[in-house]
Amino acid sequence: MTTSPVSPSLIATLPGRYYTDPEIFRQEQEHLFESMWFCAVRAGDLARPGDFRTVQVGRESVVVTRSRSGGLRAFLNVCRHRGARLCTEESGRVRRTLQCPYHAWTYDLDGTLIAAPNLIKMPDVDRVAYGLIKVALREWLGYAWVCLAGEPPSFEETVMGAAVERLGDAAAIEHYGTENLALGRRVRYDVGANWKLIVENFMECYHCATIHPELTEVLPEFAEGYAAQYYVGHGAAFGDDVRGFTVDGSEGFERLPDVADDQDRRYYAITVKPTVFVNLVPDHVILHRMYPLAADRTVVECDWLYAPQVVESGADVSKSVELFHRVNEQDFAACERTQPAMASRAYREGGVLVPNEHHIALFHAWLLERLGSSTG
Ligand code: FES
Ligand code: FE
Repeated sequence: MTTSPVSPSLIATLPGRYYTDPEIFRQEQEHLFESMWFCAVRAGDLARPGDFRTVQVGRESVVVTRSRSGGLRAFLNVCRHRGARLCTEESGRVRRTLQCPYHAWTYDLDGTLIAAPNLIKMPDVDRVAYGLIKVALREWLGYAWVCLAGEPPSFEETVMGAAVERLGDAAAIEHYGTENLALGRRVRYDVGANWKLIVENFMECYHCATIHPELTEVLPEFAEGYAAQYYVGHGAAFGDDVRGFTVDGSEGFERLPDVADDQDRRYYAITVKPTVFVNLVPDHVILHRMYPLAADRTVVECDWLYAPQVVESGADVSKSVELFHRVNEQDFAACERTQPAMASRAYREGGVLVPNEHHIALFHAWLLERLGSSTG
């Protein structure tokens, strides 16, 4: 359906209902966000044992915490007694245990039930079996990725594979040492648009010349509208007079120590389906995590990550933050401008993709395959 050409140049997009229908969104929750690896939390946000953060993963609330032994753990945020939500705060810190606010069942940071009123009088209760339900967790790029599936898909193929596919080589992303970088800035955007509009927008640069004046100054080839970021191994080159990936092209910071010569003065963008974008430039990494909350609402958390000494020194990161913050605001405004039309009769059959956007049809084909034929 999505790949049938309208004319040789134009390929159909998804019909509008894919961006508005609560039933399709529910299927995406089930078949994507609850079935694939989902980038939940930055590991550095949970620095000390007892730090926790709750995140919405599909239809589930998940609590991610750091255990006393130092590892990260993820659990369904549901008390095993009668189901009260355990952590109601979005983030916080407990001393040693997670205690349910209803009848005070108490779990240690590995999820084991360790105390409850009158538990001593119920010696037959298996404290591990009635512990919190564990959720699979992997760490990569300094983030905790969780998976609700009973049998999670291969992390190497479905998550790390996106970087290999894009950069053409498994080692290339390692050069940025993302897991060792420090958080310079975080901005949270509450976007009134379907998460797929945000992905599609990120995948094409046909709009760059129209809405990204600052970005196309720094990356002149983006003004051509080519999806240069999607040629395997190709990073968009900085303009000749550009000194850094900053809002005015002024000097950035020292190149990250392992970034190779052929990665210098270049920008690489990676989409890790379904909800993560990684942007690599020589002196920092920008990582977007999406939390799709409804068919027409997506929260995006964007982190700007720098060498630890840059953040520790109190250096002014505002010029590099400002560049992609403007790009984000420009992109999200475009997505919000598009969302209402998804419900219009004018978009019942969808719109079209020009040749520079044809690769977006691969995303649509991937989506339809994951959702199965029931919504096709
Ligand atoms: Fe949690 Fe009763 S529901 S202790
Ligand atoms: Fe854009």
